[in-house]
Amino acid sequence: MSRLDEIFSTELNRLKSEQLNWEPKTLKTPSSNRAMYDGKKVILLCANNYLGLSNHPSLKKAAIDATKKYGAGSGAVRAISGTMELHVKLEKKIAQFKKTPAALFYQSGFTVNSGFIPAMTGEGWLLISDELNHGSIIDGVRLSKGDKTIYKHSDMDDLKRVLAENREKYKNILVITDGVFSMDGDIAKLDEIVEAANEAGAFVYVDDAHGDGVLGKNGAGIVSHFHQHGKVDIEMGTFSKAFGVVGGYVCGSKELCEFALNKSRTWLLTGSHPPAVSAACIAALETIQKNPSLVKTLWKNREFFIGGLKDLGFDTGKSQTPIIPIMLGESSTAKKFSQELFKKGVYGLPIVFPMVAQGKARIRTQVSASHTKKDLEEALDAIEKVGKEIKII
Ligand SMILES: Cc1ncc(COP(=O)(O)O)c(C=O)c1O
Repeated sequence: MSRLDEIFSTELNRLKSEQLNWEPKTLKTPSSNRAMYDGKKVILLCANNYLGLSNHPSLKKAAIDATKKYGAGSGAVRAISGTMELHVKLEKKIAQFKKTPAALFYQSGFTVNSGFIPAMTGEGWLLISDELNHGSIIDGVRLSKGDKTIYKHSDMDDLKRVLAENREKYKNILVITDGVFSMDGDIAKLDEIVEAANEAGAFVYVDDAHGDGVLGKNGAGIVSHFHQHGKVDIEMGTFSKAFGVVGGYVCGSKELCEFALNKSRTWLLTGSHPPAVSAACIAALETIQKNPSLVKTLWKNREFFIGGLKDLGFDTGKSQTPIIPIMLGESSTAKKFSQELFKKGVYGLPIVFPMVAQGKARIRTQVSASHTKKDLEEALDAIEKVGKEIKII
C-alpha cells in the first residue's frame, strides 16, 4: 500500500470502527415511489423527490428534446461561451415562480451557498447562522472573511440576543437560515427572523431547498408560506429535491444576481449545465404550475403517513413537513431499524451521530406525492413490525 493510501486507510478504518462510513446502495430503476436498490425492490422513503417529478414524462421529454436540439453539453462555463438560451429562460421562470425581480442558476444548491455567501460578505460583516443549518451553508460561512457566530436552533430570543450584542459593532450583519431543516423537518420562523433582522438593520438569507415545491402557494416556498414577499433579501434553492432534477439558484434583486454572477467563483469557474438539465428544470416549474394537485397530494400523503406513525406510538420529533423522522435514540438502534426495514422492502435512511446529536438518532422518512395509499400502508405495516421486533413500540 502506498504511503498516501495508508493515510486514507487509517481514516477509513476509524470511520468504519465507529460505524460512520457510507456505503451507498445502487439504484437500478428510476427514483420513484417504488424502486430497486442493490437488487431489492423497495418502497422508497428517503428520496427528496417530493413531487415525484424526477421520472415525470414531461421532464423526460423536455430533456430528450433539448439534447436533440442543443446537444449533450454547453461547451463552456457560463461566463465565457456556455450561457445557452435555456439557462436564460430558466432564470426568468425561476424569478416568476419565486416572485423576485431576478434569479441566477448555479450548478447546485451547494455551490450557491458555498460560493455566494463568501462572495457577498467579507471584512466588516457578521454572519449569524442557525446552529442546524445545512453543511453547504456552514462551508459558505467558513469561507467568508467576515466574523461568524451561531444562534440556538430556531430560538428567537437567542437570535435577538446575538443581534443586540453585535448591531453596533458591525457595519453589515447577515442572518442565514434553512427554510425547512433537513434532519427534523421543522420550519424556520421566517416571519420572526425577518422582524428581528429588520429591527437590527440586518439582512436575511434563506435556503429554500426543502421548501420549494412543498411550502407556500402551489409550492412557491417558505417566503410565500409566511407572506414575506419583498422582505427577504436573499433566497436560494435547488432543483435536486421537489423539482426532481439538479441545479441551484439564487434569487432577489437584479443587482444581487448581477453581483452573484460576477463574484461567485462557484458560478464563474465551472462548466454550465447541459441543455437536458436546464430544459428539465423549466419543465419541472411548468409541471408544478399546471398541476396544483401535486402539492396537495404531497400534503395529503404526509398527513396520512405521520398520522399512521403517531397512531403506532412512534415519536416523530418536530416534523412540520414531508420530512418525518422516527426518533429512535441510539445510533445502533437507528442502523438496526433501517436494516430490518430494508429487508422488509422499505428504504428509510438512518441518521446517526455526528449528523445529529448523540441520543437523537432516527430514521428519516420523506413522503412524496408519488406514493400511493397502498405504498404508505405497506410501509407503515413494515415499520410497525420492525418497531415491535426491536421493542421500540
Ligand atoms: C438545506 C439544503 N441546502 C442545500 C442543499 C444542497 O442542494 P444541492 O443538492 O442542489 O447541492 C441541500 C441538499 O442536501 C439541503 O438539504
